Amino acid sequence: MNAPHAITASPNPLRPADTPIARVRGLHKSYLLGEVKVPALRGVDVDIPRGCFTVIAGPSGSGKSTLLHLLGCIDRPDSGRVEIDGVSPQTLADDQLSEFRARRIGFVFQSFNLLPVLSAVENVEYAMRLVAHDPAQRRQRARELLGEVGLGGMEDRRPNQLSGGQRQRVAIARALANRPDLVLADEPTANLDGHTGAEIIALMRRIQRQTGASFIFSSHDAGLIRAADVCIRVADGQVVGQTAGQTTPRPSQEVQHEPA
Ligand SMILES: Nc1ncnc2c1ncn2[C@@H]1O[C@H](COP(=O)(O)OP(=O)(O)OP(=O)(O)O)[C@@H](O)[C@H]1O
Ligand SMILES: [Mg+2]
Repeated sequence: MNAPHAITASPNPLRPADTPIARVRGLHKSYLLGEVKVPALRGVDVDIPRGCFTVIAGPSGSGKSTLLHLLGCIDRPDSGRVEIDGVSPQTLADDQLSEFRARRIGFVFQSFNLLPVLSAVENVEYAMRLVAHDPAQRRQRARELLGEVGLGGMEDRRPNQLSGGQRQRVAIARALANRPDLVLADEPTANLDGHTGAEIIALMRRIQRQTGASFIFSSHDAGLIRAADVCIRVADGQVVGQTAGQTTPRPSQEVQHEPA
């Protein structure tokens, strides 16, 4: 099986390892709830290091999902800047933004978000439709990726014929399909039992090391926070701390926040 090649990385060779994968400055975002404006992010400044397994941790309602959605260019800020690998998505036209997102960013959601009418292999292939034009190549890569995440033999099952952990594995394969240099995951273990969640964390940790891609998660999960290289703490719509994770005790990595 040539599966080990399925998840090789494409880290941007033009960017030195010490430039952040994501740079966020003065980010504000609020939602309208009827007539009421609910602030979700209130001036976020953060640099997220390249090639790391980074967790965004904080209490419920602190703004983790909002920040991930802005990093993933799924939503637009009210004000402030996001730069992904030196590119400001705000400056891209809609079709350029779709292509940028498809090629450069993989997203894993808490509730998997698979298309229910498609099989596992078709879900992974679907993610490649904007990027890889040869259907046979798409099929082959999707099968290899599913093998890599431990789903060999289950390619033809629909999401409702898979367990929660297996669905999340399909979602991870889908997120990796276009060899993104940034993988975002919003509480990827929250809908899974502890054992299955731990397996998913181990799988993502292995893939991150293998690919060298930058992974950013939001999580309350102590296991995921312990597995992280870098932990960014948010509270009440602001970043309140950034430290090296507990598994890599490198206290020198304590990062001071530079002003906006
Ligand atoms: N679509 C929305 N409409 C109105 N308010 C929203 C919306 N989405 C989020 N909010 C509010 O924005 C704030 C930040 O929400 P967000 O979902 O980013 O938090 P979170 O840290 O991801 O929380 P959790 O851990 O519960 O997922 C909260 O006060 C939330 O109520
Ligand atoms: Mg959330």
